Amino acid sequence: MRFSGKRVLITGAASGIGRATAILFAREGAMVTIGDINTAGLTETAVLIGEAARPVAYDAEDHDSCCALVAAAAEGGLDVVCNVAGMLKWGPTEDFAAADFERLLRINTTSVFVICQAALPHLVKSSGNIVNIGSTSGLRGMIYTAGYCASKHAVVGMTTALAAEYAARGVRVNAVCPGHVTTLMTQQAPPAGDLDWDMVMRGMPKLVDGSCAPEDIAEAIAYLASQKARKATGTVLVVDGGQLVS
Ligand SMILES: NC(=O)c1ccc[n+]([C@@H]2O[C@H](COP(=O)([O-])OP(=O)(O)OC[C@H]3O[C@@H](n4cnc5c(N)ncnc54)[C@H](O)[C@@H]3O)[C@@H](O)[C@H]2O)c1
Repeated sequence: MRFSGKRVLITGAASGIGRATAILFAREGAMVTIGDINTAGLTETAVLIGEAARPVAYDAEDHDSCCALVAAAAEGGLDVVCNVAGMLKWGPTEDFAAADFERLLRINTTSVFVICQAALPHLVKSSGNIVNIGSTSGLRGMIYTAGYCASKHAVVGMTTALAAEYAARGVRVNAVCPGHVTTLMTQQAPPAGDLDWDMVMRGMPKLVDGSCAPEDIAEAIAYLASQKARKATGTVLVVDGGQLVS
């Protein structure tokens, strides 16, 4: 019961990694405010968790909505924020709409900043912590993903910058960078066009059965958020089945 009595905000909790994280934290004693734009999925997660879950619909593209989510989560105080919500769109750069690039940055990056900014005063009071979800695409360039890579490199940079800024005030800020995880995000059809699949496959996991389940990532998030990691801040924990080993 690593999170007994802790109040935790988890975004992107309608499916995949966010849902697995919410279930794990609640199982270990947390009260979880779960946020997502997908209200049907959010309700399903809340039903799976039971009384410890408080679902709040929000849109990561909307600043006021992000702030309202944090305000709802922090009503009785706030100990942990897990920024999991995100989107993936990829494809050859010359065919990639600038509007999609900007949307990736709004959902994957700006919303993380806005949520951290709104949550930090509460986390200073509780000596709490933040876990952001980056990606191996936040550490290395992957073919056809200039927008997604930019958005996730920014999350990694933001994480270490906030860790430096808030360490003296007792708030830890860390990131988990998953490799390939079997979720709705990775079940999308590939973009149309003539793709260099040899280059795409270079980014695949190298461990036998190296693709992660959402629960593998939830465990890494829970570790960093727990007291067991009390000396870890600015840490970027890669869980990728060996995707980045050469
Ligand atoms: N699946 C992978 O291989 C993988 C790898 C590395 C990083 N990640 C990251 O993990 C996180 C979770 O992704 P996942 O794999 O669980 O995918 P997922 O699609 O199952 O979950 C993403 C969640 O974000 C929510 N979301 C999207 N846009 C939103 C918006 N505007 N407002 C609020 N919520 C919104 C979705 O509704 C969804 O529930 C993302 O940040 C993703 O970039 C995933």
